[in-house]
Amino acid sequence: MKKLFIKTYGCQMNVYDSNRMAELLAPLGYGAVDGPEEADMVILNTCHIREKAAEKVYSELGRLRRMKEARQGAMTIAVAGCVAQAEGAEILARQAAVDLIVGPQSYHRLPEMIAKIARDGGHALETDFPAEDKFDALPDAGAAVGPSAFLTVQEGCDKFCSFCVVPYTRGAEYSRPVDDILAEARRLIERGAREITLLGQNVNAYRGVGPDGKTWGLDRLIRRIADSTGIARLRYTTSHPRDMTDDLIAAHRDVGALMPYLHLPVQSGSDRVLEAMNRGHTRDDYLRLVERVRAARPDIALSSDFIVGHPRETEEDFEDTMALVREVGYAQAFSFKYSARPGTPAAAARKQVAAEAKDARLQELQATLAHQQEAFAKSCAGKTMDVLFEKPGRKSGQAVGRSPYLQPVHVENAAHLIGTVASVKIAAVMPNSLKGELLRDEALAL
Ligand code: 5AD
Ligand code: SF4
Repeated sequence: MKKLFIKTYGCQMNVYDSNRMAELLAPLGYGAVDGPEEADMVILNTCHIREKAAEKVYSELGRLRRMKEARQGAMTIAVAGCVAQAEGAEILARQAAVDLIVGPQSYHRLPEMIAKIARDGGHALETDFPAEDKFDALPDAGAAVGPSAFLTVQEGCDKFCSFCVVPYTRGAEYSRPVDDILAEARRLIERGAREITLLGQNVNAYRGVGPDGKTWGLDRLIRRIADSTGIARLRYTTSHPRDMTDDLIAAHRDVGALMPYLHLPVQSGSDRVLEAMNRGHTRDDYLRLVERVRAARPDIALSSDFIVGHPRETEEDFEDTMALVREVGYAQAFSFKYSARPGTPAAAARKQVAAEAKDARLQELQATLAHQQEAFAKSCAGKTMDVLFEKPGRKSGQAVGRSPYLQPVHVENAAHLIGTVASVKIAAVMPNSLKGELLRDEALAL
């Protein structure tokens, strides 16, 4: 067996892609290992979203080069993902130890690229957006999956937010056909999935061809997956406020399997900044949308992404963001300092925000978001929640699962429930997780 190590950076779509690459290489005799030390092949599946993410890749490549030299070159190094797409040949120039560069739309070509460098030596680089469907070209390796699985239904983005590289690295919006997604969902369920998270850079912009030849939206796709597979839990991420249709909101009311948790990035609470960001929605549009979602599903919890220090953001704009956060109340959120990305419109703006102002704003925002997250967790104490148990905990007999709101829940004497959903009473709130107790029925099933 040849040893393969894949290191994944960035979003869940990269996690999905890494799994598919591992499946793709299995028939070539590659088996996964946990570290690069003995690997014959190392793939870095990279993220280009912020400067820090991209820089991490280069420092990792430096470490890998030294390992490769120590082993007289007996290691193939591949760079996949969005840094590969955006920087392509530049990576080879900066780090000669790299053998292979493969963009996110081309990784189904990895086997032929590996064969080519084995035969001819030198490097291989594929960063086109090929006409053939990558998903069709990927094999079904039949490997086991955990209780919670990802399924990419949509890729790319046509929104062109001023700050974002995704439209350039992942290309135009593309939606997979409904039947292909259903077939993959069934395979995942057969192999152990009880929860599927539908993935897309702009997942709620999903417009795939249905079995009737018509275009289906995400709402219909969700209803069909829920009805025809009986899956216990469905989620989707990441959504854009502009594509949150009434039909999709109604699915949150009607589809029991759809979890009451929605990641709905707003980025900023200031109309001026939202406009500079080219987001295509106002603060008020977003707040009204939140109201409609909550009316359809009163127990829904919200999560968001925020950027502070986008070009032209003033203290007043930032205060608008803080006020929006207080108004909405988030269960969870991610916040970032604006990072200029080469080739994006915002990077060319003359008025960049000073680093100190960005630092101060991020600190203030994160303090409030952390406070809200804690308040949300505390509000769960004493409640009974369904938990999908995913894996054993550290202590014997313990199992760890996730609440409907994605919080990790630790439960004693629950190892027999891994792979199932069970009712749990939340007994204590820890800093980043919950402690639960089985209700009597489940405990008796021991
Ligand atoms: N700088 C900082 N954060 C960014 N994001 C995207 N591009 C940038 C950037 N240039 C954030 C957004 C997005 C999340 C995935 O990353 O908040 O929703
Ligand atoms: Fe980037 Fe905006 Fe597209 Fe999201 S919607 S991927 S932030 S361009």
